[in-house]
Amino acid sequence: MKVIIQKDYETMCEWAAGHIAEAIRAQDPSRPFVLGLPTGSSPLGVYRRLIEKNRAGEITFRNVVTFNMDEYVGLPREHEQSYWYFMHDNFFDHIDIPRDQINILNGMAEDLEAECARYEEKIRSLGGIDLFLGGSGVDGHIAFNEPYTSLSSRTGVRDLTEDTKIVNSRFFGNDPELVPSRALSVGVATVTDSREVLLLISGHNKARALAAGVEGGVSSKWTISALQLHNNAIIACDEAACGELKVETYRYFRDVYRNERI
Ligand code: GLP
Repeated sequence: MKVIIQKDYETMCEWAAGHIAEAIRAQDPSRPFVLGLPTGSSPLGVYRRLIEKNRAGEITFRNVVTFNMDEYVGLPREHEQSYWYFMHDNFFDHIDIPRDQINILNGMAEDLEAECARYEEKIRSLGGIDLFLGGSGVDGHIAFNEPYTSLSSRTGVRDLTEDTKIVNSRFFGNDPELVPSRALSVGVATVTDSREVLLLISGHNKARALAAGVEGGVSSKWTISALQLHNNAIIACDEAACGELKVETYRYFRDVYRNERI
């Protein structure tokens, strides 16, 4: 696992957007580039930069197929806090991706299990995900795979912890009761099956998650730690998120990847 440490949130996003743009450009045009995507505040700076690169003609999304990580159960698309709405508002409405190449789990589906099985099958039918971009919760969850979700989990229905509902209540008038209790989410193994995984970890509040994911043992307590078993996983982070790393860990990654520093 690579840990690329940047000075701050903006440089972290600049590095990550550059990395994604390069991967899209390098794709063999005979096959679509399959990109996994997250919601949350962490990827916003990356989406902004990818939109700029698309507008400047540096990259195109015409040959990109996307799969989002997760969606709340019970929120219709037009609800401002649905992940469908978030993704269109912050990204898809501003790039040249054909609409039928966007995949987002339907949290309003009548048969939620069937919806999740369909999603996994569609990913498989496209040959798997080339690059999964993600974030992390303060408790180290990836997508909505809360602590103690199996590291071999696949796409399914998840119950959200009280902690996550409290953290996400900032988007629901600060009332955790208004945050849906369930979500559909790709599994930990759906993420780690991707050919490359890139997580964005920024800010002091993610410092424990970063330390557990990098220095701790592989454990479902911190689902982020599954990345340690992936052969092509990158964590792009900022200085603030490094606050709980051992000095020697911090120095090691700063030194090895110093040429990646912006
Ligand atoms: C939610 C999402 C995760 C995301 C996390 C962190 O729980 N399901 O995919 O990584 O929030 O969000 P933020 O980037 O806003 O800190």
